[in-house]
Amino acid sequence: MRALTTAILSFVALANAGCSDSTDGNSAAAGTSAGGSAFAGTGAVAQGGTSGGAVGGGGGAAPVGGASAGAGVGGSGGAAAGCAIPAQNEEPPSMLSQTGCVDMANPSKPLPGFIPYSVRSPLWSDSAEKHRFLRIPSGSKIHVLDCTSPADSAGCAADTIGGDDGHWQMPVGTVLVKNFSLGGKIIETRLVMRRSMTRWLFYSYEWNDAATEASLLPDDDVGKARQVGAQTWQYPGRSQCTQCHTPGGGFSLGPSTPQLNSDFPYAEGAMNQIEKFKQLDLFDAPPKAMTGYPDPAGADSAEARTLSYLQVNCAICHRPSGEYSGMDMRWGTAIANMNLCALSERDAGKNGLPKYRVVPGNPLQSSMSFRVHALDELRMPKIGSNVVDPVGAKLVDDWITAMPAAACPPQP
Ligand code: HEC
Ligand code: HEC
Repeated sequence: MRALTTAILSFVALANAGCSDSTDGNSAAAGTSAGGSAFAGTGAVAQGGTSGGAVGGGGGAAPVGGASAGAGVGGSGGAAAGCAIPAQNEEPPSMLSQTGCVDMANPSKPLPGFIPYSVRSPLWSDSAEKHRFLRIPSGSKIHVLDCTSPADSAGCAADTIGGDDGHWQMPVGTVLVKNFSLGGKIIETRLVMRRSMTRWLFYSYEWNDAATEASLLPDDDVGKARQVGAQTWQYPGRSQCTQCHTPGGGFSLGPSTPQLNSDFPYAEGAMNQIEKFKQLDLFDAPPKAMTGYPDPAGADSAEARTLSYLQVNCAICHRPSGEYSGMDMRWGTAIANMNLCALSERDAGKNGLPKYRVVPGNPLQSSMSFRVHALDELRMPKIGSNVVDPVGAKLVDDWITAMPAAACPPQP
């Protein structure tokens, strides 16, 4: 898997070499940073490509994070200098406290310089409560992918670093943090860092029982299971991150116009998240207006909510150039083009398993339904979940039940 990931990244490096990602005027310098392994040292992102160091710590100027943390603009409170991106040595500190990326005493609060955000349609994480933050190097801008614009057509091609329409392409030096809590207690912190045009880093930390410190999980594709109350929490192995966080998906998966088009309760008052990012002047150009993905547990039509659930939880792998590209569950793909009516490649012919991916009107005969209820190695999503998503599984079942036969004629 590691070799494969490296190969994919090298391929992307080549494929992307001539392509402009307008967020990174500094691409040439990016990957080749001078200097040593400054991760937790200076408060600046230790890499050649970014201009003028990171926001936050001692000297930045990102009003939202600071304000939400109650620390005022730019946060000179010094809660955490650091959260620098590993430069050459890709092994980050073994303890989360040493990274400076998380407020250890209050991990649900953003550190100065970090902007809290939420997504309309979340990845199901076995009922964990999640807190998300991002930090953009000061002066850098987010480029929002517009697949209707010729300038962005390369980014919208599935085999390069891209994303879906409205995807926010993060500038080099960006850090994204996601904290997971079960039963009110923090159990995991995941970090995504964009080190260069082509290099993204993924780390996961396991919190101790006392919730005072978290330690780095190893770089493997096995992960770690841990009993938390009544459920088994599955920490993904570090090399499993890139099975979902792929080049075609744009590496960072959440931030996008359809995901963030909702209000967020900032410390200084609730506001639409896109308006907030505009107000902070964080886009290279104003993003086009896009309707938000329906909240899977919300009040939109059942079909729209199902397609939103599939986009976020399944299309990460089931898309062109995903882990398993024989199906395409992306938002905006017509149902007839999703390839869901075909024989199941993996399940057909196996004892008692459904023959077709979807049989309209009949979830029990549909591999798709079988897979979202499975708890063994056939479980979907394939990685990082041990608990059936009550909302998502019901959406899939109801969608198949209501599907007219004509929408999905059996394919040979
Ligand atoms: C099953 C697929 C999957 C796996 C495996 C996975 N992620 Fe993610 N991750 C997602 C999706 C989808 C989102 C966006 C939706 C959300 O935040 O709920 C996301 C969001 C994140 C975010 C917030 C920033 C962003 O990209 O949206 C971080 C940080 C993150 N993941 C880190 C990791 C790390 C580190 C690993 C490996 C230890 C990992 N993830 C494994 C699917 C996955
Ligand atoms: C981390 C990547 C990943 C995610 C996320 C994921 N899948 Fe899969 N899926 C796979 C892989 C790989 C296979 C083929 C191996 C297997 O059968 O387990 C597969 C197989 C399947 C199959 C059988 C297809 C066939 O032709 O036999 C179905 C149905 C399916 N997935 C549905 C889903 C649904 C629904 C979701 C979202 C709830 C989902 N998957 C999320 C990776 C993923």
